[in-house]
Amino acid sequence: MKKLAPLFLGNWKMNKLPADAERYCTEFLAEFQAAEGGEADCAIAVPFPLIPLMREKLKNTAGVAVAAQNVHWEDSGAHTGEVSAALLRAFEVEYAIIGHSERRQFYGENDRDVARRAAKAIECGLHAVVCVGETKTEYESGKSAEVTAAQVCKAIEVLENGHVGMLSIAYEPVWAIGTGLASTPQHAGELHTVIRRELCRHFGQESGHAVRIIYGGSAKPENIADLIAAENVQGALPGGASLDPKTFAELILNGRQAYQAK
Ligand code: PGA
Repeated sequence: MKKLAPLFLGNWKMNKLPADAERYCTEFLAEFQAAEGGEADCAIAVPFPLIPLMREKLKNTAGVAVAAQNVHWEDSGAHTGEVSAALLRAFEVEYAIIGHSERRQFYGENDRDVARRAAKAIECGLHAVVCVGETKTEYESGKSAEVTAAQVCKAIEVLENGHVGMLSIAYEPVWAIGTGLASTPQHAGELHTVIRRELCRHFGQESGHAVRIIYGGSAKPENIADLIAAENVQGALPGGASLDPKTFAELILNGRQAYQAK
C-alpha cells in the first residue's frame, strides 16, 4: 500500500478577526517554513469571511491550504446562511470540514445531510473531511465502534471509488473535543481501524486504504506523536491547538516526524 502524506487540519471554529488572522499567518509561516520534515498536507479551516484574506496570505506557501468549516449540498438557491461548494472553489478553498460534532449537536445536522454535503463537496473539487465519533454516553456504554462505524457507512454510502482521493475521515470522539482530555492512542487506533474496515468494505481494499483517517479531540504538540504512532492514524484535526500559530506549527512538526518514523 502506498503511504499517504499525513493531513494536519486546524479548525479555528468561530474565532478571530481579520487583524488576528493576518498576525497569525505571519507568525505561523515563520515557524512552518523554518521547520524541516517530511511531506504533509496542512490546512486551516476559518470562518467564511476570512477566506480571501487567508488565501492571499498563504498563496505562496506550498502545503498550506485554506479550508471551510461547512458546505451545502445544493448548487444555489433559497438556503439562507449556507455556502455553496462552487463559491468556496471560486475562492480557491481546497478542503471542507463536514459533519463536525458541533454541527450535529447544536445545529441538527444528520447523517443524510453529512452524506450529501460530502458528495457535493467532492463533485465540485473540494477535499471533504467528514467527522465522525461517539458521545460520552456512547463511549461509556461501550458503543464507540458501533456508533462510529454506522456514521461512516452512512456518510460514504453514495460515494464511489473515484472519490477516495478527495475524502478523509476525522475520528473525533465528542468527549475529547475541547475538554483537554484526548483519546488514548490505543482507543484511537482501535476506532481508526474500525473506520478502515468500513472504508474497505465499501470501496474495496485498495481504495479503502486511499482514504486518510485523521484524529481530532484535544490533539496537542505534546500528545500528537503518540496518537500518530497508533494504527491507521494519518494526521490530526486540532481545534484549540490550532488557534496559536506557534502551537499549531509545533503540532505539525511533531506529527510529521512521528508519521515518518512509523
Ligand atoms: P479541540 O477541537 O482540538 O479543541 O478538542 C477539535 C475539533 O473540534 O475539531
